[in-house]
Amino acid sequence: MEDLFSKENILNILDYIEEGIHIIDNNGKIMYYNQFAQRIDGIERDKVVGRHLLEVYPSLTHETSTLLTVIRTGKPIFNKEQTFINYKGERITTINSTIPIKDKGKILGAVEISKDITQVREMSEKIVDLQSKLYPNKAGEGKETAKYTFLDIIGQNKEMLRLKKIALQAAKTDAPVLIYGETGTGKELFVHSIHNASPRKDKPFITQNCAALPANLLESILFGTVKGGFTGAEDKHGLFQLANGGTLFLDEINSMPLELQSKLLRVLQDGNIRPIGETKSIHVDVRIITATNIPPEKAVKDGLLRKDLYYRLNVIGFKIPPLRERKDDIPILTQHFIDKMNKKLNKSVTGVSEEVMEIFMAHPWEGNVRELENLIEAVISIFDIETIDKKHLPSKFRKKTQSNRKYSLREIIEEKEKNIIQKALEEAEYNISHTAELLKIPRQTLQYKISKYNLKRQ
Ligand SMILES: Nc1ncnc2c1ncn2[C@@H]1O[C@H](COP(=O)(O)OP(=O)(O)OP(=O)(O)O)[C@@H](O)[C@H]1O
Ligand SMILES: [Mg+2]
Repeated sequence: MEDLFSKENILNILDYIEEGIHIIDNNGKIMYYNQFAQRIDGIERDKVVGRHLLEVYPSLTHETSTLLTVIRTGKPIFNKEQTFINYKGERITTINSTIPIKDKGKILGAVEISKDITQVREMSEKIVDLQSKLYPNKAGEGKETAKYTFLDIIGQNKEMLRLKKIALQAAKTDAPVLIYGETGTGKELFVHSIHNASPRKDKPFITQNCAALPANLLESILFGTVKGGFTGAEDKHGLFQLANGGTLFLDEINSMPLELQSKLLRVLQDGNIRPIGETKSIHVDVRIITATNIPPEKAVKDGLLRKDLYYRLNVIGFKIPPLRERKDDIPILTQHFIDKMNKKLNKSVTGVSEEVMEIFMAHPWEGNVRELENLIEAVISIFDIETIDKKHLPSKFRKKTQSNRKYSLREIIEEKEKNIIQKALEEAEYNISHTAELLKIPRQTLQYKISKYNLKRQ
């Protein structure tokens, strides 16, 4: 066993690793340098080992060298990106983690592990360029337009009317807006409407979905790049610059990598952006609207959305209710989409049967308004009918009500009982004795039912 893990064997093994490894002692003298590190730096190992770090890397200083910093502070530095020209004159980008080596609290030296990401960087630059050529809108070269206005948001539900009113007021300001709603609830409609009702309506409106691109690319797209950084890279304005004077809509903000979120936070604080590879910052005047389809508080709790950013973005916060919580709008939305599809498909459907409306009212609409719209479009395009009947609906709508009706008396009673106990628990703030008194049942019975229905504090 001892032989297997001998120092010599370990060092040999390190030579096969596709990451550069540097070890220095606490005086800054290079003690170990693996094969891959030679390749990254473009120098021979014998010319390096035994010499002081600053002698080998004259461009570094005590302050800028991560290895020397770690020796000084005793604290590791993780995932620091570095770009430099190596001994062969090649421009190299690495991601480094530097860790102190300690014995009983005393710093003996430090090790740096470097991943060569030069090619990844170059490739992502190329992808940015190609994307902007292929999809001018997506990569932010062309102009997009905000299609919808508040008139396109159909609905008389009280909460929806209240939200429209707030949105209209929000449109007059430059404050960031954060919109939360399940998929298909109409977030995009609200964003367009706010832009179109704002003083920025004749200025650019630009959308970027943060879940659509890998981190690296998203950063270049948002902030832009400056020529010369990497082979093939061109000067490219980021979306912030393209949206200058107008509105930038960042969809699915919860998918933005955390590191980029802190850059976004800085832009929100001072309005300055810095393109990748650029040293100066540029001032931009952009109104930011963001959207998420998971509750933002949950995104914060789960570590997907930085708390400080959340507060900045949520100056005006919106929660669009799911369709199942505004059923009173189902009839007008249904009629609206029937009219819309009649026009589009040149048909003359007049409405839905009473039974279909009942099914609609009971349906959970997990895809929300979009699901309703798609359903109506599908039915109208397939059938030439006057009224939409149950038989025209896809099978999942027909099965639902049957199974509802199959409910046994016991199931119905149990469902009711569960709800009543839950309500009582809430009213008594989960105090068991109080709840039992409210319900006029013995404590033991209550406890049994709580565990039977698995009732928990909500
Ligand atoms: N209140 C509404 N009135 C009219 N049409 C609506 C309404 N809400 C949603 N729609 C329709 O539903 C579709 C989906 O809306 P939208 O794209 O705004 O959803 P979203 O919340 O952005 O969803 P996702 O999270 O999936 O992006 C739109 O094409 C629009 O036509
Ligand atoms: Mg959307």
